[in-house]
Amino acid sequence: MTELTSTHQRFAKENGIELENVGPLSTEQFAAELERVVNNDDVPYPIEPAKREPYLTAFHTGVPFSIGEFSDETVDLKQFTNSQTYSQYSFEEHLSWACLVAQQQKTKHQFACREYLAGEALFEIGAAMIPNYYLLNARIFQQTGWQLATVSEIIPAELFFTCHSRRFFPVTTFMRPLGTDYLEEPDIGHDVAGHVATFTIPAVANVMQHHGKARDLIYDQRERALTGVDDPEEIAAIKAKADQLLTYAGRIYWFTVEFGLVMQDGEVRDFGAGILSSPGETKYSIEDHESNRILIDPNLDADLLRLANTDYLISEFQKTYFVSESFDLLDSITPQRILEASQRAMSLPDFTWREIVPGDRVLNVGTIATSVNEKYYRLMAGQEMDQCLRRTAIRNLAMYRDGFDGELLNQFRVAPPDPPQKSLKWFDANRDELTAMLPSLG
Ligand SMILES: [Fe+2]
Repeated sequence: MTELTSTHQRFAKENGIELENVGPLSTEQFAAELERVVNNDDVPYPIEPAKREPYLTAFHTGVPFSIGEFSDETVDLKQFTNSQTYSQYSFEEHLSWACLVAQQQKTKHQFACREYLAGEALFEIGAAMIPNYYLLNARIFQQTGWQLATVSEIIPAELFFTCHSRRFFPVTTFMRPLGTDYLEEPDIGHDVAGHVATFTIPAVANVMQHHGKARDLIYDQRERALTGVDDPEEIAAIKAKADQLLTYAGRIYWFTVEFGLVMQDGEVRDFGAGILSSPGETKYSIEDHESNRILIDPNLDADLLRLANTDYLISEFQKTYFVSESFDLLDSITPQRILEASQRAMSLPDFTWREIVPGDRVLNVGTIATSVNEKYYRLMAGQEMDQCLRRTAIRNLAMYRDGFDGELLNQFRVAPPDPPQKSLKWFDANRDELTAMLPSLG
C-alpha cells in the first residue's frame, strides 16, 4: 500500500495530476494493450510474425525487458547490460515521471518544433506512469525501426555509437527524484521523455545513425592502423586517436541531437532531447538572453566544423545553441562528413561554449558571450573562468606553440585571430604547470 505524503500531494497539485491516475495499468489491461500493439500490421515497420509470440511469452513469464529483438541486429552491452523490472518502480517514481512529463508538456507545447510534438503523440509519452519498455519498444520499432537497449549507466562513446549504427538507443532504467528539473546523469525522464519522439523525425534519426556509422569508419581505420603494430606506445597512440575522433564526432551529436534548435516558420524551435527533457532549459534555450544562439547550415563544412571545434560542459544549461536553418539540411550530415569534420577539428584550435566566433551568424549575443581571445587573457590574469574556458585556452596555446598547419584555419568561415603574443610568451614560462592541469579539467 502506497503511503501518500504531503509532498506527493503538493507536487501532484502543482502539476495538475490526479493522484489516483498515477501508477501502472493492471497486468490484464497491460497484456491486452501489448498484444494489440505487437499484432498491429498497419504501421511503417510491422513486427515479423515469428517474432511476436516469443516477445509476448517473455512478457507473460516475467522476463525483465533488456534489449529489443525485432530486428536482425543486436549489440553486446557487456558490463553495462541492464534490464527493466517494471514492478519495482515505486509510486513516488511513477509520480516523479508524471510530474516531470506534465511540466515538460507545458514547455514542449510552447517551444518544441511540430515534428517533435507529432512524434510524442505516437508514443503516448504523456501518460501518468513510467513507460513499460516492452510496450514502448514495440511502438518505437513499428514506427521507426529503432529499438531500446537498457543500460546501467552512461556508456562509453564507442559503445553508445555502436548501438546507434544498429538502430538501438541505450536507455537507463532509473527515474530522477521527485521535483528535479535538470540532472547531468541521464534517466528515463531524459532518455525516454526527451529522446524517443526525435526518432520519428527522419533527419534527426539519420543524424543519430550516421554517428553510429561514423564510429564504424573510425574503428575500421583504427583496426587497419593496429595491424602488425607491436610497439605498446604506438598502439596506445592509435587507440587514443580513435577516442579523440569520437570526442569530436560527439560534439556534432551534442549540438544537434541533444541540444539542437531549428528554424520553423520564422521562429526558433527546439528539437534536442537534452533541452526538451528539462522544462527549465526548454524555455531558457529560446527566451533567455543569457545564451548565444547561432544560425548554422549543416550542409556547409565550415558550419559542421564550428560544431566539432566547440567545447562544452554538461554541468549546467548550455551557453551556446546552434540553430539549423531547416531539418532538411541536417540530412547532409553523413558518416563521411562527420569523420572529415572530426579529423580537421583535431588539428585546429577549439572554441569555448561562450564564444562568438568571427563569421558566426548570430541570432542572439548572450550576456555570457566572450570574444575568441578573452579566454587567454583571463587565464593569464588568473581571473575566474569555467573549466571549458580553462582547458580550451591551455589546449590552444599548446597547439599554437607546437605549430600546426595554419592553412587549415581557412576551413572555418573566418580564420580566428591568433592568441595574443604576450599570452603565448606567458604560456612558455608556465607550460608544465598549465598542461599538468589538463587531465583534471575533464
Ligand atoms: Fe541524451
